[in-house]
Order: sequence, then structure tokens, then C-alpha cells
Amino acid sequence: MSVIKLRETMQKSFDVGLESLTRQKPEASPTEHAHSGSQGATFFLETFGCQMNEHDSEKVAGVLLSRGYRQVESPEAAEVILYNTCSIREKAAQKVFSRLGEFRGTPGERKIIGVLGCVAQQEGKDIFRRAPWVSLVCGSASYRNLPKMLAELEAGNRRVTGLETDTDETFETEMTRRDNPWRAYLTIIEGCDKACSYCVVPYTRGPERSRASDSILRELRQLAELGYTEVQFLGQTVNSYADPSRRKMRFAELLVTAAEIPGIRRVRFTTSHPRDFTPDIVEAIVESEAVCNHVHLPVQSGSSRVLREMQRTYTREQYLEKIAMMRTARRPMAITTDIIVGFPGETEEDFEETLSLLSEVRYEGLFAFKYSPRPNTPATSMPDAIPEEEKSRRLSVLQAHQREIQTASNGALVGKVFEVHVEGKSRRENQWAGHTSCHRVVNFSSATPDLLGKYVNVRLTSAGPNSLAGEHVS
Ligand code: 5AD
Ligand code: SF4
Repeated sequence: MSVIKLRETMQKSFDVGLESLTRQKPEASPTEHAHSGSQGATFFLETFGCQMNEHDSEKVAGVLLSRGYRQVESPEAAEVILYNTCSIREKAAQKVFSRLGEFRGTPGERKIIGVLGCVAQQEGKDIFRRAPWVSLVCGSASYRNLPKMLAELEAGNRRVTGLETDTDETFETEMTRRDNPWRAYLTIIEGCDKACSYCVVPYTRGPERSRASDSILRELRQLAELGYTEVQFLGQTVNSYADPSRRKMRFAELLVTAAEIPGIRRVRFTTSHPRDFTPDIVEAIVESEAVCNHVHLPVQSGSSRVLREMQRTYTREQYLEKIAMMRTARRPMAITTDIIVGFPGETEEDFEETLSLLSEVRYEGLFAFKYSPRPNTPATSMPDAIPEEEKSRRLSVLQAHQREIQTASNGALVGKVFEVHVEGKSRRENQWAGHTSCHRVVNFSSATPDLLGKYVNVRLTSAGPNSLAGEHVS
């Protein structure tokens, strides 16, 4: 059976027009658009990078739609072109400049071109120098000012910027244009107060700010009433959540309380930081069926020496204690991770330790990256850079090792039954796709019509290192 690419199928099957996806405010009245100076103006928004960026884009789209803009699918058809950018690695950051190059501007055409997100925050006004046809540069900590900035552009201002990161507010909007009709993303903590020596996030997203628990839960109740059955809490270090309200709800408590909201069947969260990964989070997963049994716990390296250089604040042994908490829990859990290979000074022995960590933990999934020096970060000036070819070699050795682990562990799942949340439909008849609670993608066959959005049981019939296939069972 061919593997259904979930994202593509989702986009296809969700081809229902923007109005119907704007479920948070289905009754949007004309008065809500009263301040719009842009009825009918069109925008194109392309997103690079992580889920936080994807979700920020949902909010940006919501702001624009509430101002009367219409979203279009190509930059050619748009009057406003926005790129929500990622600068976590050099390659991602370069991508936006190549996109901007494509929109140098056709003579006689007046488009508003904006750079949002991490590259905007990192490069700031320098973007105007490199691409003078850009008129808006805005980092994620300033998105709450977007309506004002758009109004300035509409009033004829040629250039506006939003580059502060010292705000203690989080970005909440009246309206969010949610891309997935069942799974809602909710940012519960923005920014990052850790100081990993390779990472730009503390510079581009600013310091940690958590959203009040009652505000999160209120929005989640509304989403459940609108028919959302799954929520994913987002944050660069989601489990460092610190409720700013007097309620002082702990992160694990927030998970359990969210899981108890009528209509909510799954509660996910990403990304967790090992240092703040406490036993009560494992307890929440064990005790509450609706809290998903998947934890993304980036380790970055298996060598304590490298971890110290990375300023990760834990050793290999301390990390493994967190893993042991999960592996010995009553409910099985899928653990995934991020690893960086070729950090400055990483020796062959350090790398071997990362390989042995993979064997020890037997992760259910891995995202591996070659170290990429980033501006302003301490690691950029560390000695003993690893040559590019060696980074590539380590990356492929690591990936081959993980592939073997996944081939074996996925193979052992054949015959087992999983509950799948159906999120995609193949063009091929009777073929569907969805996620398990442990966040594995399953492609399956079923002759039952109208399964989209439903939760069904699927028996796995075959498995590869990166895919699972099965059949619907009643
Ligand atoms: N180079 C390579 N990978 C990086 N990551 C973060 N910064 C860098 C960098 N400078 C990776 C980490 C992080 C993931 C989101 O991106 O593994 O967990
Ligand atoms: Fe970057 Fe480290 Fe913060 Fe993660 S915890 S966003 S890797 S600084």
C-alpha cells in the first residue's frame, strides 16, 4: 500500500474554503470588520519552520481576515505577501532571502512584502538593506501590534517594523484561522529562558512568558464546543510552563484539567525540556487516557561533555533517569528526540556515545540535524569546528542506526490495535490516514464512509521504519 502523505491529503480533504475554517468566530458580523481599510485586499502567507511558526501564521491569518483581507494561494495573486520565517539553521534562514529574491518587484506593480518571525527578529532593519522592496519586518514578540502596523501600511507608510522582545504579553488574537478542523494548537508559553549555546531562539523569540491557565482553559472549552476534539499545547519549552495567575496551576495539572473538558479526546504537548520534565507529567499520562502517550524530549547529544558545552543543564545520566521514568510507567509511551551532530569539538567518542544512547533509549522517532553556527550564539566562536563532510557522515550513520531501531520496534507492533484519529483521506478508494495517541501516522483501509474527524480502531497489518499500515476493525 502506498503511504499517504498526511499533510497533502489533509490540505486536499480540507479544501472547504476559508470561511468554514474560521470556526472560532463563525458569526463574524460586519461591525467586526469596521476598522478594515482593506476590504477585498488579498494576502499570501508562506510559513517556514516549527509548529510554533505554523500556529503564529494561523493567528496572523486570523488578524488579516478580521480586517477584511482575503487569503490567496499564490504570491502572484496577492497584494500583500508575507513570509513567516525560521532561523534555527542557516539553510532555513537562507530560504527566505531566495524567496524575497523572487519578489524583487515587477515594475509598475505595488505589492506589500513583509518578513515575519525569527529571521525578521534576527536581521531586523538590515532586511530593508538586503531587500529594499520589503516594507514590513516584524518578529513574533510584536505580532500583537500587527493590526497597527497594517493600518500604517494601509495609510501609505512605506516601512514599518516591530522588533521588541521585552514584552511580557503573549500573542493572543480575537480570531485565529485554524488550519486543522479537529486539532487546535494553543501556545501556552512563548520564548525561552534557557541558554543553549547553539540556539538562536532566546534571541528571536525573547524571554519566557506563560499564558494564564484560566485563559487557556476558557479558550479550550470554546474550541471543544466548536467541535475540536484534540488540542496541542505549544511552547519552545512547553513543560517550563509557569502559570502567571494566582491559581499557579502546574503544567501536569493543566494537562489533566484540559483532558477532563467534555469533548476533548486528546491533549498533546511539545516541546519538553529534559530539565523540567518532572514525574507528575508521567503520572498525568498514566492516569489520564486523554493525555497522549507521546513525549518529544530533545537530548541533543549522548555525551555529557558535549551537553555541558551546549549548556543543556543535564548530563547523559540525568537524562536517562527521565527516560527510565517513562519506560517503567504503567502506560507505554512513545519517546522522540532531536539530536545535533557535529557540534564544535564533538569527537568520534562523543559521537559514539550518541549512537549508544539511541540503542539504550530506543526512541520511537528522531529528528537529527547537522550543527549550524548561528549569529550571536556562544557556540559560533567555539574552536574545533567539524568539517561539513564529517557532519554529513555522522548524520547518515545516526539515521541508519535509528532506522534499524524503528524497523524493529515498528515491526513488533504488527497485529496490535490502535485508536486512530482520522485526519486524511486518500484519493484511492477506502484509504484513510490518521494519528495514534502515541503520534504514529497510520494508513489504513476502511469501507466505512465519512470517517474524517472520527476515532476508529485499526489493526496494524504491516510496518516499515517510517510507516504503519492497517485495517479498520470494529
Ligand atoms: N544547529 C543545528 N540544529 C539546531 N537546533 C537548534 N539550533 C540548532 C543549530 N544551531 C535543533 C535542535 C532543536 C531543534 C528544534 O533544532 O535539535 O531541538
Ligand atoms: Fe533553543 Fe535550548 Fe531554548 Fe530549546 S531550550 S529553544 S534549544 S535555547
